Amino acid sequence: MPHLHINSFNPIIVPVSAGDVSFDFIATSRGDGKESLIATRYKNRDFFLLHKKSGDKNLLKSDKITRPSPNFLVKHALLAYANASGCTIVDSNVDTAGENAHLKTHDALKSVDFFVDNFPLNREIRLEVGFGSARHLLHQAANNPDVLFIGLEIHKPSIEQALKQITIQNLTNLMVLDYDARLFLEFVPSNILSLIYVHFPVPWDKKPHRRVIGDAFVNEAIRALGVGGRLELRTDSENYYRFALETYSHPIKVDFEVRKNQEIAIVSKYEDRWKKMEKNIYDVTLINHEASEEKKLEGEFVFTNSNISDAILPKIERQTHRRDWGFLNTEASFDIDGGGWMIRLAMGSFDRPEHLYLIVKNGVGHYFPTLPVRSSANLSAHTLLNELLHG
Ligand SMILES: C[S@@+](CC[C@H](N)C(=O)[O-])C[C@H]1O[C@@H](n2cnc3c(N)ncnc32)[C@H](O)[C@@H]1O
Repeated sequence: MPHLHINSFNPIIVPVSAGDVSFDFIATSRGDGKESLIATRYKNRDFFLLHKKSGDKNLLKSDKITRPSPNFLVKHALLAYANASGCTIVDSNVDTAGENAHLKTHDALKSVDFFVDNFPLNREIRLEVGFGSARHLLHQAANNPDVLFIGLEIHKPSIEQALKQITIQNLTNLMVLDYDARLFLEFVPSNILSLIYVHFPVPWDKKPHRRVIGDAFVNEAIRALGVGGRLELRTDSENYYRFALETYSHPIKVDFEVRKNQEIAIVSKYEDRWKKMEKNIYDVTLINHEASEEKKLEGEFVFTNSNISDAILPKIERQTHRRDWGFLNTEASFDIDGGGWMIRLAMGSFDRPEHLYLIVKNGVGHYFPTLPVRSSANLSAHTLLNELLHG
């Protein structure tokens, strides 16, 4: 990840614009004062740069939770901050190369908000979960120009690789998204997908709760698939294969097909590797036969107290609240220079928590860098946070 080692951290006077980057405020971790977060806006993206002191070393990098993709945004903002604050860069892995042409105006890279607000509905849609090298996704998109493909990945370099290929191959029927597939499915309208590919998911043998396939995912997949729609799992892991069979048989029984060592048109990087090792490859395909009801979620991410007291912070910071629907963790807190405070939150479902910040300035609270995604667990966590802020 891009970072700079600087001789000393010089907080700049904020808010300020440094060329095309603006810095809104700086917040310092309460208690140890070891971390400073710099609220940064560049190309309509909000994120934090992070200054961390370790011994006599000063590191400037991006905050993990709010880090934007592509990396270019972070590199540019880091250099802009270093320049504006007049610090000396001792060491760095940040090059000064310009923005890659293929990332500059990439229409194919979407944020989750695009789908929450405006899910494309006017043609057949297929989803690929964890596309990795994107060989399969690109092959499918190139061979099915009338179908819209949505690729989900949580590994940013894979996203950047896919964007590069989308440009080179001039594909216009492919959108990619840096998002956890388990969360994303909740935002897909009912009955609209024709296929969901899950090829060679991480087996997570020691932490099965982290697997993509699970009860909640399968329920959402069935809801999102149209009648005749298919969820295709392809795996080399016998454990995963058996786990999928079990999941598809319980709690709701669904129709599925199983095949062993079936050849498909395009072999992914992982498949290549397993084939060389002469491993068995399993396909477990779930077929949906029923239409589902539209999904309705009640509630908004609004803080009803417009006069949140500063005295509330010590009472609610660094706590974990566990509930049936999931949890809310107020894991770290920060004082904002010039007034106000901030809490780093983890919230929502245990399997797929949301990480973001609550900022309170002049008694008014808002989430940063964006609202939580509108999932039922996040709405429940928000309701609890809202209650806590009332004291
Ligand atoms: C073992 S790789 C397989 C990649 C590709 N499908 C292939 O066959 O070569 C699994 C991929 O899934 C991605 N992944 C893991 N969990 C995910 C999740 N919850 N949502 C989206 N992608 C995920 C990982 O980043 C990784 O790139």
